[in-house]
Amino acid sequence: MPEEKIVIKTKHGELSLEQLAEAQHGMAHLMKEVGERYHVLYYAAKALNWKLAQYQLNQVIALFRIGSTLRPKYTEDLNDFVKSHFQPLTDAIRKQNWKEFEDAYKKSVHESDKFHEKYGYGYIHYVLPKNPPEMYKLAPD
Ligand code: HEM
Repeated sequence: MPEEKIVIKTKHGELSLEQLAEAQHGMAHLMKEVGERYHVLYYAAKALNWKLAQYQLNQVIALFRIGSTLRPKYTEDLNDFVKSHFQPLTDAIRKQNWKEFEDAYKKSVHESDKFHEKYGYGYIHYVLPKNPPEMYKLAPD
């Protein structure tokens, strides 16, 4: 018997589950946002705005989880990265320890190069922008 396609009715017409799956953001899209949030994360912590820093880090972790669900090929590495690199950042934020934060941050950026290389994107190196982002008030309230 041929497999029946699951079709979802939307206000724009009918879409198959396959079409909806394909329309989900892939790694390029998720990573672009990770890079932007990583920029804000650094300067928020530097300004000792720990609430904003934790918020940005939480969003990065959520993006990694989405990538891990939607792209099984990266699941293990993304989950390991959360444990080995985002947990130490969370700990430093909890302790409000800038030095510890900066060390963990730099280590994570260095390690990200290895994964880009591993998956054939050796030409992608995240570089922390020299200037703080202008679209957030960085000083804590
Ligand atoms: C803090 C850690 C990381 C940062 C800041 C980061 C940042 C980035 C950035 C900025 C891009 C380029 C996005 C674009 O402009 O299209 C990228 C691409 C990519 N990253 Fe990461 N990354 C990190 C960790 C990782 C890890 C752990 C993995 C793998 C498990 C990974 C896998 C990829 C892949 C596969 C691409 C290419 C996506 C594509 O074009 O399809 N990254 N990353």
